[in-house]
Amino acid sequence: MIPKVNVDSPRRDSFTSNIGVIAAAAGSAIGLGNIWRFPYVLGENGGGAFLFIYLAFVLGIGIPVMLSEFTIGRRAQRNPVGSFKKLAPKRPWFLIGVMGVIAAFMILSFYAAVAGWTLEYIYQSVTNSFAGKTPDQLGEMFEDFRMGSWRPVIWFLVFMLFTAAIVISGVQKGIEKYSKILMPILLIILIILGIRAVTLPGAGAGLSFLFKPDFSKITAGTILEALGQAFFSLSIGMGTLITYGSYIQSRDNLANTAISVSLADTFIAVLAGIAIFPAVFAFGIDPAAEEGLVFITLPNIFQQMAGGYFFSLLFFILLAVAALTSTISVLEVVVAYFSEELNLSRKKATIIAALSISLLGILASASWGWFDKVTISGRNFFGLLNFTSANILLPVGGFFIVIFVGWFLGKNQVRDEISNKGTLKARILGVFMFLVRFIAPIAIALVFLNGIGIIKF
Ligand code: PHE
Repeated sequence: MIPKVNVDSPRRDSFTSNIGVIAAAAGSAIGLGNIWRFPYVLGENGGGAFLFIYLAFVLGIGIPVMLSEFTIGRRAQRNPVGSFKKLAPKRPWFLIGVMGVIAAFMILSFYAAVAGWTLEYIYQSVTNSFAGKTPDQLGEMFEDFRMGSWRPVIWFLVFMLFTAAIVISGVQKGIEKYSKILMPILLIILIILGIRAVTLPGAGAGLSFLFKPDFSKITAGTILEALGQAFFSLSIGMGTLITYGSYIQSRDNLANTAISVSLADTFIAVLAGIAIFPAVFAFGIDPAAEEGLVFITLPNIFQQMAGGYFFSLLFFILLAVAALTSTISVLEVVVAYFSEELNLSRKKATIIAALSISLLGILASASWGWFDKVTISGRNFFGLLNFTSANILLPVGGFFIVIFVGWFLGKNQVRDEISNKGTLKARILGVFMFLVRFIAPIAIALVFLNGIGIIKF
């Protein structure tokens, strides 16, 4: 159904069941962030110690921010900008929402570029192109593809088209249906891949890289990367989950949803790490192989397992679907904003958003080809969009979101929302308020300012 321009209409689109909410929010959270981004960022940042810090951030900062977003969204029943306008009329808080919309533009442009790579890898799986290649050759295959520009750009555009088509069709039908069936299958494949990876000869080194913290490798920059990765992976800090929160029904339990989604997301990331690092070490791949890590490592595993052809095909298809349930959630932020605040029809909003994001995404997709000479403070377009959105916009957004919930909305309104107007116990209220008032904002501020070099410990 097309959401009404009058957002107070009782017919505003919503998810139909709590499982639907969890599936959709988990669909947003679980994606390339867990399977592509987490392993390579961890690989570049020294391994186990990064994992340890990451987990601490998910628990102490990520879950509170996620619950804050659900609270804001369900209370206001609007897109991120409209939500702040409604809850804090005539105040500048809505700028957090504006920043979220900007972050959505940036994230979607490079994220859908990587999602396009998964389409290329589906194609390569179909044609059995990994077979018989050495780890080095698989590395070259990835680099050649990425430098080619045309193919990455075309796959990116194809992916944007899929995303836009689903978003046009509306929240319920579009999102809920797909995420419920496919994500559990992806989980099973990851487990199978993990088992294959840890039984490779030489796998032990990868497991200790992943799980044995070496804190001498930690720098201010690394800690900020861990925070950015936590925000990125959980889909928080830019209003995606404010938007989804606005579709959550009044009887659903927000706290349970936030906790289950965060734990599921983290579990998948760790599982991806278990599938990747043993293989990275077993095949002698560089753990700091950047954005190519997953695309180079996994084809090596597929070659070494029974049914590799089948698994590789299935894996890349499901990875593309996991990416799709995330890209629709990002596009949904922009579309909800355009349609509710600028009074565009849903269809028009989607088309305008998708077209303008595509321009940015072409720059991102061709960052290693046509635009490989263009660098801005040492990063190409892709790197710049990736770094700025995850490590700057999301943490800053998250900071203001928790401040808003902790200090502006205040305990009574929060209790009302978390307890579903008193019908649930809301035992976690005290802990939650403490986290959003003190721990999360202070921690985000310190990590952020330290990470970008404004203060030094
Ligand atoms: N969390 C998604 C993933 O891990 C990416 C994402 C980021 C989605 C921000 C929405 C908002 O793949």
